[in-house]
Amino acid sequence: MNDMAPTREQREANLEGMGCKRKRVEDVRFTQGKGNYVDDLKLPGMLHGDFVRSPYPHARVVSINTEAALKVPGVLAVLTAEDLKGVNLAWMPTLAGDVQMVLADGKVLYQNQEVAFVVATDRYAADDGINAVEVEYEQLDVVIDPFTAMAPDAPVLREDLAGKTEGAHGPRKHHNHVFEWTVGDRELTDAAFAKADVTIKEMLSYHRTHPSPLETCQCVCSFDKIRGELSIWGTFQAPHVIRTVVALIAKIPEHKIHVIAPDIGGGFGNKVGAYPGYICAAVATIVTGKPVKWVEDRIENLTTTSFARDYHMTTEIAATREGKVTGLRVHVLADHGAFDACADPSKWPAGFFNIVTGSYDFPTAHVAVDGVYTNKAPGGVAYRCSFRVTEAAYCIERGMDILAQKLGMDPAELRLKNFIKPEQFPYHSALGWEYDSGDYQTAMKKMMETVDYAGLRKEQSEKREAFKRGETREIMGLGVSFFTEIVGAGPSKNCDILGIAMFDSCEIRMHPTGAGIARVGSKSQGQGHETTWAQIIATEIGIPADDIMVEEGNTDTAPYGLGTYGSRSTPVAGAAIAMAARKIKAKAQMIAAYKLEVHEGDLEWDIDGFRVKGLPEKTMSMKDICWAAYNSVPPGMEPGLEAVSYYDPPNMTYPFGAYICVMEIDVDTGVYKIRRFYALDDCGTRINPMIIEGQVHGGLTEAFAIAMGQEIRYDETGNVITGSFMDFFMPTAVETPHWETDFTVTPSPHHPIGAKGVGESPNVGGVPAFSNAVNDAFSFLGSTHIQMPHDFWRNWKAAKDLGALG
Ligand code: CDP
Repeated sequence: MNDMAPTREQREANLEGMGCKRKRVEDVRFTQGKGNYVDDLKLPGMLHGDFVRSPYPHARVVSINTEAALKVPGVLAVLTAEDLKGVNLAWMPTLAGDVQMVLADGKVLYQNQEVAFVVATDRYAADDGINAVEVEYEQLDVVIDPFTAMAPDAPVLREDLAGKTEGAHGPRKHHNHVFEWTVGDRELTDAAFAKADVTIKEMLSYHRTHPSPLETCQCVCSFDKIRGELSIWGTFQAPHVIRTVVALIAKIPEHKIHVIAPDIGGGFGNKVGAYPGYICAAVATIVTGKPVKWVEDRIENLTTTSFARDYHMTTEIAATREGKVTGLRVHVLADHGAFDACADPSKWPAGFFNIVTGSYDFPTAHVAVDGVYTNKAPGGVAYRCSFRVTEAAYCIERGMDILAQKLGMDPAELRLKNFIKPEQFPYHSALGWEYDSGDYQTAMKKMMETVDYAGLRKEQSEKREAFKRGETREIMGLGVSFFTEIVGAGPSKNCDILGIAMFDSCEIRMHPTGAGIARVGSKSQGQGHETTWAQIIATEIGIPADDIMVEEGNTDTAPYGLGTYGSRSTPVAGAAIAMAARKIKAKAQMIAAYKLEVHEGDLEWDIDGFRVKGLPEKTMSMKDICWAAYNSVPPGMEPGLEAVSYYDPPNMTYPFGAYICVMEIDVDTGVYKIRRFYALDDCGTRINPMIIEGQVHGGLTEAFAIAMGQEIRYDETGNVITGSFMDFFMPTAVETPHWETDFTVTPSPHHPIGAKGVGESPNVGGVPAFSNAVNDAFSFLGSTHIQMPHDFWRNWKAAKDLGALG
């Protein structure tokens, strides 16, 4: 070794592996406007499709006259449900086991529902065509309030289900009932409540909102009649699942369908399911023989593609006088809109809501969820959330604050008293989950010390006294939230989508010069997978991350994977990547042993290659092994260096975090100020701290939006009144507070690299922190719970209702 040889630290740094704040490689193209999104695609002769939509939320479609539209210059075809019936596609299956109209079949069930699809030479002609389609409607009574959906005399919404007492998830109690899902021990829980010293009961509503990614849902479909092949470019979070669904419903052999998800501008759950636009564009390309593009506008995205939340949770907690929780009982009324199009694993009609016991050691719990149909858009997607975990976290974190208020205890102290202790992991929750690892006390105490929690409480009580004396009109709230997430769907023993187990996959192919390509079943929508997946491989096999190209989203080249949502990529695909890399390393070790003329067991790994134990000069770098793999492998070994892994996780991962929001509210105007927001996250082993921080910033901003104003609101006649960014709160840099981030590291014991997911944690933990801050601010005026979203008007109204306006 000469003096110029790199040090161990330099060799390590050169890899830019796990733990490194590696700059995002994808940003080179994004910051230069060179991203490649669906709407950038222009194929020769491409046509444009657009929808005629219903202005009414519930109406019978008496007639559709397309004659005038077909005469509009440039309009080539107008599809209606009658046309789709010819190819058995007037209805499509949903991921939740229900069926959904592709185009209005006899009636419409929500405002802006798709009624006809106009295909034209350009978008403007399509729009003129839409205006020329004549539809006659007969309005029907609407059901907007989910609490009235199961009234005996409520209008029948789903006539296609008339008389059906069984749904996809068991018995239906009423013509507008979707399912009832129960979990836990009802008798034990009732007994715990019967002998409790203290109980609380509150209806906690998590309002309807929408993921609203900046890029809306869109696709281009192109059918090659000669080859019988269908290519679909689309904004798909799960491209392989889309290919399988298309194969099943369009009866095209799966290998003749090419699904490509290019760059995607945000998904947040909105781009998991299948929408009428995809089906209509696919039918239109087959009918016309030309490529067809469909691109949603903002209003269409907000009012028709998947909504999120709309969970109304009657929450009860039983406890001892000293503040030890003894039971949890929750009944949820879930508004599913017109069709149950929730994007959950098949066996989970209420997602993973049964994580609702949170971070606390509840001896018993019982949950019942009733899903109902209403005249609203279908969906129920996990908006930056792992299948209803956000609703669950809100439920328990508000519940714990309400209990603390009743007990006269500090909310942080109540949490510390009830946390699952480090020695209890792996922990079996009363509602059936096995939490893999956690150290809640350490995280909570770090948060409390960093922000000087005791000092803030002192300041708050002084401010309250000053308010009572009339010296200030501002009230102060501290919003504590301690969440436990469940991410990484998931183990095949309990998770599948349409019967396909929720594994994920990676294929790594190393080239002779020591560079390689990794193809992965996940699909980034901005999370930076091209950067972080290469970092995992760099650490595992000692090849610099810059020499690994990551490719996702093309079903012809990527191994079958279930896609990216619910922070499943790191727990599942990330594990597959590590396992594939380990297969590469195992073969590399055999090659190195052969070349170094030693036994495999005589070699040890050393950052970027193997060395002979006890003979540090005798080494072979991974780069050299790659070359050897293509010219001098041991006798009997196949040449080449590639590996595939399909990873079926043994369990979910359970990231957690301690958040606090310090807020001040002017009671006379309802205007709030976020003075401080501190977020401590524990996602196990951290692959890229900079990307994690970016994920947390983004998730907190969405949580802020949801808690403080973002809502899909309907008036009583079924009109969406927040259907554009004029009314749907989309925070900009002006409104967004400063975020302070922190972390602890508690690795997952079952994940190959100890990592847990993180992408959605800030949304899950952030919303209760904001809501608890508002509620904490008002609590001394006598309120127990104020429903979200906490916009200025609602804050002012709360102050007025509590008699604080004088
Ligand atoms: O499934 P999705 O990509 O949305 O979520 P995720 O698995 O939580 O990952 C989001 C991003 O954070 C990815 O680029 C991950 O590689 C990165 N991450 C990380 O660096 N370390 C972790 N422990 C978890 C995620």
